Amino acid sequence: MRSSAANTKTNWWKYGVIYQIYPRSFMDSNRDGVGDLQGVIEKMDYLNDGTKNSLGVDALWLSPIFPSPMADFGYDVADYCDIDPLFGNLATFDRLVAEAHRRNMKVILDYVPNHTSDRHPWFIESRSDRKNPRRDWYIWRDAKPDGSLPNNWGSAFGGPAWEWDERTGQYYLHSFLKEQPELNWRNADMKAAMLDVLRFWMERGVDGFRMDVVGMLLKDPQLRDNPISKENPGPAHPNNLYYRQQHIHDQDLDEVHAIIREIRAVLDEYPERCGIGELWYALPRWIRYYGIHGDELQLPFNFRLMNQPWNARAIRQSVDELEEALPEFAWPNYVLSNHDAQRLVSRVGEKQARVAAMLLLTLRGTPTLYYGEELGMENAVIAADQMQDPQGLRLGTDQSRDYGRTPMQWTDGPFSGFSTIKPWLPLTQNYREKNVAAENSDPASMLNLFRTLIHFRKEHPVLQSGSYLPVDGESEDCFVFERIGDDEVYLVALNFSNKETSVHLPDGLTGQILVSTYLDGSLLLIRDDLKLRNDEGVILKVANNTAARQDE
Ligand code: NOJ
Repeated sequence: MRSSAANTKTNWWKYGVIYQIYPRSFMDSNRDGVGDLQGVIEKMDYLNDGTKNSLGVDALWLSPIFPSPMADFGYDVADYCDIDPLFGNLATFDRLVAEAHRRNMKVILDYVPNHTSDRHPWFIESRSDRKNPRRDWYIWRDAKPDGSLPNNWGSAFGGPAWEWDERTGQYYLHSFLKEQPELNWRNADMKAAMLDVLRFWMERGVDGFRMDVVGMLLKDPQLRDNPISKENPGPAHPNNLYYRQQHIHDQDLDEVHAIIREIRAVLDEYPERCGIGELWYALPRWIRYYGIHGDELQLPFNFRLMNQPWNARAIRQSVDELEEALPEFAWPNYVLSNHDAQRLVSRVGEKQARVAAMLLLTLRGTPTLYYGEELGMENAVIAADQMQDPQGLRLGTDQSRDYGRTPMQWTDGPFSGFSTIKPWLPLTQNYREKNVAAENSDPASMLNLFRTLIHFRKEHPVLQSGSYLPVDGESEDCFVFERIGDDEVYLVALNFSNKETSVHLPDGLTGQILVSTYLDGSLLLIRDDLKLRNDEGVILKVANNTAARQDE
């Protein structure tokens, strides 16, 4: 069991709920079929109007909104210090920050430090001439003497990670699309320019950054070949290069931590700014991104719940392993879906998605929600000729991320109230039932469950900052844990199965159910055995706390 710091007004990133907005798909205010910043402003009361009528989230993370040719939908940045006209302009952005802050919400931007767009002026200069001062801002290499590629590295979107530049007779590196050339973080001028980008946005009031593939910033200086993975040797198809390799030379280098410490030092030039990292590594490597002395990222994204089989044992094990591994200063966090993943409901089913919501919002650690998760939005059905995502177009339709990026479902009206014209991606099949308007008027809807849980977490700070203690409930279908504060204890019991089950409570424990995922208000008094309906999760206020029980 781990104790935690008391809840305070500081460290908002520990105690708040983060909400990811994929701006293209949230709200289209100017009727071009693509969402924009004005649309986000118009819908801000939905997110947090200071009352329980709103969702009640505390921070907005906007996926990239910078000028971009959109080869990878904004993860190919052509100017780090402006807004793409598709989304608005700097004045709209300033209003967005002011409106968010007025509602006590923080704003988190997506910082894309590993690569730019090939249309970024830096790259245009870099590729213009081998002698250009910005040549070294990117990673250029000669072909091998036999004319072949500099090494065996693959692009995550298929094919080799090297693109030949005819004019200057060298290859440049791109771990994603060839339109996303890799920046060279070993170049001091480039690094200084990228650190200034952080300052530019913090001066405008930005509270934090989600940092794209931040473990990839440094590459092996000798560019050695990656070994082929024993677990996933895969066919030697060019589209499979990346996934058959062990990425020991192109990412997660020990040296990258020095860069991340520098990034953190820049964040620390301003009060209460937060660094969040996109990092997919195994626990012992991943944990290092907090920094040995807590001097790197406050929140390396923890995606482990997304990769587990959905059963009580695996989920508990994942939480326990994290809790055991974290040093005292490191704060946990949990994510159930995002713009690179399939929709939660499509992964675990509608009923279990309610259990998942309770899990996410009662664990010790910052929850991040993905827009539409609170409605139970499902994966869309998208015909091959309507696919947009470069990953799906290159690696196969089953790899497309479009399914989980479809327009937010506001109403059951035309285009779900997202736009008045055909949106850039089709709507999901269930938008007529799963939308904000319909779910507002259904007291037991998924939206009302999320609202209830978010506000419950806010009103019961033990759920934010209390310690975590797993409980052996003697039911293999249930994950049971306590959240323990100085004066209060809550017990959370989650039934991962579609059968009724009974959980044996710790000896002598009595308590009252305050929330059920069924939202049917059965405020039962419980002693010894807790009966859970199929796919039910409950939060119980423990009448006699752990210490008192031990004394009994
Ligand atoms: C990770 C982002 O989440 C993903 O959407 C993007 O395609 C790659 N990084 C490349 O930036």
